[in-house]
Amino acid sequence: MISDSYFKVIGGAQLQGVFQVQGAKNAVLKQMAATILASGEHHLYNVPRILDVEIMAELLHSMGIATEWGNDDHLVVTTPAPQDIKPFADYELVERIRASVTVLGPLITRLGIATISMPGGDDFGHRPIDMHLAAMSELGAKFTTSHGYVEGKATRLVGTDVTLEFPSHTGTDNILMASVLAEGTTVIHNAAREPEVTDLAKMLISMGARITGLGTSTLVVEGVDLLQPASHTIIPDRVDAATALGAVAMNRGDVLVVGARHDHMEMLIRKLAEAGLEVVKDAAGLRARSKQRIRAVNIATLPYPGIATDYLPILVAALATADGDAIVTENLFAGRFKYVDELRRLGANMTTHGHHVAIRGVSNLQGAPVKATDIRAGAALLVAGLAAEEETRVHGTNHIARGYVDLARRFSELGGTVELVYNPL
Ligand code: EPU
Repeated sequence: MISDSYFKVIGGAQLQGVFQVQGAKNAVLKQMAATILASGEHHLYNVPRILDVEIMAELLHSMGIATEWGNDDHLVVTTPAPQDIKPFADYELVERIRASVTVLGPLITRLGIATISMPGGDDFGHRPIDMHLAAMSELGAKFTTSHGYVEGKATRLVGTDVTLEFPSHTGTDNILMASVLAEGTTVIHNAAREPEVTDLAKMLISMGARITGLGTSTLVVEGVDLLQPASHTIIPDRVDAATALGAVAMNRGDVLVVGARHDHMEMLIRKLAEAGLEVVKDAAGLRARSKQRIRAVNIATLPYPGIATDYLPILVAALATADGDAIVTENLFAGRFKYVDELRRLGANMTTHGHHVAIRGVSNLQGAPVKATDIRAGAALLVAGLAAEEETRVHGTNHIARGYVDLARRFSELGGTVELVYNPL
């Protein structure tokens, strides 16, 4: 049903209490794709119950792979024999979820055939998969495109050295999954080093894959003939954790972010400390404290271990009310600034110049209706609403639901006033 639901947020409260970090969206979606690599029952734990997981489950279902929730956040994925997997990813589903392209690597290597809808642009603009296709072609796959679909064919892939032009996150995931069943050794140079890539590698190793170089920019994969179903616990979501840290930076308070991994977020924590937020390691995660307005700091995004592009909307929101001027630079997705206009509706003083935002901190924001344009922008607007005077309505709630488990409840538990208002059209 079409709806115009929104989050009603009343600003003003400092945040106190415990924020439980969910499982990592950008790990689990690729791990769901990895279940194509072995027949049988896979068990994934700490799976966040978010819309993107549901869409990915729908995609697997359309290919003949069943998913079922167990207790808590346990997802059981049952993969049939190869001849019963339908190697086809439809336009409808690929358009809804970018991570769906990661079924390509597993399908090509296991079944020798795959047809997937060519992903188009999305909320951030142009998002090609040329590097995925080039690397898999080097392993011996042949690709043709027609009528908006990419069709790939291969006899058994053969390992070789591949060098990525840029350390693409899903590109590395896709090539890693393609190479685990290839013949011989594949070396991926300039691989992405994101913790979610390492988590995927760990899951593949638990299935019997031979991978070394985890966490480095050179992954070495020795192909094997057969993999076993996985039993794997997904890492905590560092962007979810960063959303909580950003919220404390903006709203002040004292919050224990349970599950947050210091070792996955070092650069961000350093930057937040520079801005005046106190973040200390705790046995349960990270504890964030802030008593006063943060200081303005300049920020530039880079692939891991640099500051992630996914952190930027929440950081820009926090800088809106910082003391001083800041320049923020987005180096990954040039078109990822739509939320800046929405923050301006709340009274932020910021302007975009190409891939930079110039921010002059203001002492307070005022509530207004705003619209989420993507997952992270949505979370940032919700947090900004918590800091703004009076009422903010954040529309586009589906974007937030794609990546976050019940953010309204989790911020309410910290003393914020956030409520999902369901408003059918
Ligand atoms: N690129 C190419 N060709 C390719 C692949 C990438 O030109 O074949 C370019 C992209 O256009 C972009 C840059 O390389 O300019 C980086 O893209 P990357 O491939 O690393 O991003 P991604 O894998 O498509 C993932 C996350 C994003 C996150 C980025 C960067 C998933 C499903 N998505 O995207 O997460 O922003 O890495 O870390 O893992 C989100 O969670 O909200 C989100 C957007």
